[in-house]
Amino acid sequence: MVLWLVFFIKERRSETEMIKNDVIIEAENLRKLFPVMRGLFSKGEDSFVHAVDEISFKIHRGETFGLVGESGCGKSTTGMLLLHLLNRTSGKIFFKENEITRISKNMRKDIQMIFQNPYDSLSPRFSVLNIIAEPLRLMKILQDEREIEKRVIEELEDVGLVPAEDFLNRFPHELSGGQRQRVGVARSFVLDPEFIVADEPVSMLDVSVRVGILKMMKELAQKRGTAFLFITHDLALARVMCDRLAVMYLGRIVEQGPTEELIQHPLHPYTQALIAGVPKPDPDAKRTEELPIIGEVPSGIHIPKGCRFNPRCPYATDECSEIDPILEQAGDKHFVACIRYKKIKNIE
Ligand SMILES: Nc1ncnc2c1ncn2[C@@H]1O[C@H](COP(=O)(O)OP(=O)(O)OP(=O)(O)O)[C@@H](O)[C@H]1O
Ligand code: SF4
Ligand SMILES: [Mg+2]
Repeated sequence: MVLWLVFFIKERRSETEMIKNDVIIEAENLRKLFPVMRGLFSKGEDSFVHAVDEISFKIHRGETFGLVGESGCGKSTTGMLLLHLLNRTSGKIFFKENEITRISKNMRKDIQMIFQNPYDSLSPRFSVLNIIAEPLRLMKILQDEREIEKRVIEELEDVGLVPAEDFLNRFPHELSGGQRQRVGVARSFVLDPEFIVADEPVSMLDVSVRVGILKMMKELAQKRGTAFLFITHDLALARVMCDRLAVMYLGRIVEQGPTEELIQHPLHPYTQALIAGVPKPDPDAKRTEELPIIGEVPSGIHIPKGCRFNPRCPYATDECSEIDPILEQAGDKHFVACIRYKKIKNIE
């Protein structure tokens, strides 16, 4: 099922390449509660969906940081908060050490997003030239039309739409889904941003074209030194794209670390279950040892007491319904929020 992934050539930045204090974006105790209509679930009291609940992380220059987890765990909300498309309930976001609400219009152009759906994110009335040129014109980066066209041609070549001249005057309905997403990527990169949020950027595309688009995005990010927040529920995709991963569960980050370290040595029972559920490249191979997580994700309104994973955790004890674990350092750059991870892993 994910055979195509094995063809993907990984070119991951080594940890040492990342300069320690070269932080592009930082979230500090970030929280987003959505109010729920009074009376619907609340017996008259105000209720909230805890979409993002006190999460902290840093993304470095040129790094691809992945957010993974099941549907509804708060991945997209986190992305929207970083893009400042949603107001946070509390916490802080810094872009290059500047509080995000206070950054200038000029700095704002350094933060872009790649949309999930290439079928409705491109204006049907605009040609490819005008779609990609629009940010340049709006930001008054280039004025001369010949220079604008030259720049758009360079972008088209970088996203693999060649010969570029053949695409300039086409309209979105004349392009395949994969080609549309390449145009969307070109538009996101045209202002040479320093940080891009990509929320499930290939999930609407045919499986056969996904790998090509991801490879192109990764190469482009490496060439330009762009940092990425890569949001996906697909751990196999996260593995090929990301330098570091954060696993989210019910609005919280439960484990965070360098991608290979986290996937080969998962410490949190939820991460272990996610990894056990990823099909192997060999279709005849069985999944790794099954780790039963019980039932569905609880609602974000009635958060379980103690560790929020305890109703589904095969290792839960009474203590787990009392103590709400915080992320603690478990390795060099590896963090986990589980009070029993050492016992589970036979570390003590
Ligand atoms: N505008 C909103 N109003 C109320 N609740 C919301 C709103 N947006 C998101 N939520 C809720 O917040 C929680 C987190 O949603 P979010 O979309 O961030 O999850 P996700 O991890 O991106 O899920 P998916 O993988 O399905 O895209 C969910 O319970 C969702 O129902
Ligand atoms: S704290 Fe307890 S319930 Fe939570 S993940 Fe660890 S063992 Fe499971
Ligand atoms: Mg989402």
